[in-house]
Amino acid sequence: MSWPRVATLRTPEDLRAHLSRTGIPLSFDATLEPPASSPFARPFEVDGARVGNRFCILPMEGWDGTPEGDPSDLTRRRWRNFGRSGAKLIWGGEAVAVRMDGRANPRQLVLGERNVGVLARLRQDLVDAHVERFGSEQGLLVSLQLTHSGRFARPCTHDRPEPLVAYNHPILDARFPGGVRVLSDDDLDRLVADFVAAGRLAHRAGFPFVDVKHCHGYLGHELLSARERPGRYGGSFENRTRFLREVVAGLRAEVPGLGIMVRLSCFDTVPWRKGGDGVGQPEPVNGYRSAFGLLDGNLDAALGDAREMLRLLESLQINWVCLTAGSPYYNPHVQRPALFPPLDGYTPPEDPLRGVARHVMATALLKKEFPRLAVVGSGYSYLQEWLPHVGQCVLREGGADFVGLGRMVLSYPDLPADVLEGRPLRRKSICRTFSDCTTAPRSGLVSGCYPLDPFYARYPEAEQLKRVKETLRA
Ligand SMILES: Cc1cc2nc3c(=O)[nH]c(=O)nc-3n(C[C@H](O)[C@H](O)[C@H](O)COP(=O)(O)O)c2cc1C
Repeated sequence: MSWPRVATLRTPEDLRAHLSRTGIPLSFDATLEPPASSPFARPFEVDGARVGNRFCILPMEGWDGTPEGDPSDLTRRRWRNFGRSGAKLIWGGEAVAVRMDGRANPRQLVLGERNVGVLARLRQDLVDAHVERFGSEQGLLVSLQLTHSGRFARPCTHDRPEPLVAYNHPILDARFPGGVRVLSDDDLDRLVADFVAAGRLAHRAGFPFVDVKHCHGYLGHELLSARERPGRYGGSFENRTRFLREVVAGLRAEVPGLGIMVRLSCFDTVPWRKGGDGVGQPEPVNGYRSAFGLLDGNLDAALGDAREMLRLLESLQINWVCLTAGSPYYNPHVQRPALFPPLDGYTPPEDPLRGVARHVMATALLKKEFPRLAVVGSGYSYLQEWLPHVGQCVLREGGADFVGLGRMVLSYPDLPADVLEGRPLRRKSICRTFSDCTTAPRSGLVSGCYPLDPFYARYPEAEQLKRVKETLRA
């Protein structure tokens, strides 16, 4: 199965012809507005918070913290790059575990009393880099993403899962031969307290907002589909969102000045796996009830669960939502459309542009129905040269309030600044979705853009990554 490379779609006519031939529903602007009238440059205000432009940096871990959970020089470099990107909204920075057993890898940051000052310094490094380049921190909003990795926890070594799950999953449990442990209601009560404690520390470290993460198969997200779980945290929608509601109540009571955001996987699929020919295929399953927002052909219908969630967020006066989809572990082609699969992935079963279009459409449908929410979209990096053109069209048509950038920022940190200042894109820095940023950490190496960021290309681990990939190919 092969798909045309985006780099070969050189003109608006090429792109339009490809979209129309394949029936991929994606709109774009053929030309970019000059800086003075660019939709990207328009400030945004909600909840008393003013954000200077419409670019958002999505949370991006580097698997590069210290064993204790502090940032390393690599972490600081990434955060400084976020700061000098030109984006005024930094959504969460990266996933930071609220306690040790919730780490997705042994190098994930962990927030505790011990390192509040270090996290404050990390935030300041980002702000300083922004000020060095743009002269002021006006309109810059930096939040911190709080997480417990749940089923995907690997706190001690990268190759030993220690899954703490919301419920026994009909397919995913079998992917953990060592077994999984279902968290009890008392465990979850304690975890609520840990999130609240982490929120207090984040606020002390200078973050005005925290993201209570509900995406990508991690614990908050898995709880949303805990339909078969008995007890206070499972079954009804009310019970499945108890964790979120209690964290929010705790934060409101104990950290009144702290704003709350939620990053949500707004639709999902059954888990996928690599087929015999290397191409992804869905696991065969009937009557699947373990998805929040199961996509079964009709995207609009799949968004029913997300609608219920967004109504809840509005009722909780949470005004900031970042919409993403699926999980990098069991349906990576849904979550981060890419041409080249990561080490544990599969050949994309569809043109990755279709995955981008799905993100864009889901976000637009929800934004239209929830106009008061500040909505950030995700999954744009595969658009490559066309990212600004699609993003501008989305903003202009009100399909999202912010264009979120993930992988693109690893290869091309200052793409937002180039767009905002009217410069042409630097083609050699454009992310081509080689997926080394995922293959490296899945092999126990730090993440980064090895193919395009000269810093990582020269980094000693680049050689190790090359060997890992050669072994895979052999
Ligand atoms: C290396 C890497 C690290 C990531 N870390 C996080 C994270 O810490 N928290 C999170 O919510 N998403 C994380 N993501 C997902 C991205 O935020 C984003 O949703 C995804 O890459 C799709 O957007 P894109 O097409 O712009 O890359 C990560 C993705 C990658 C590739």
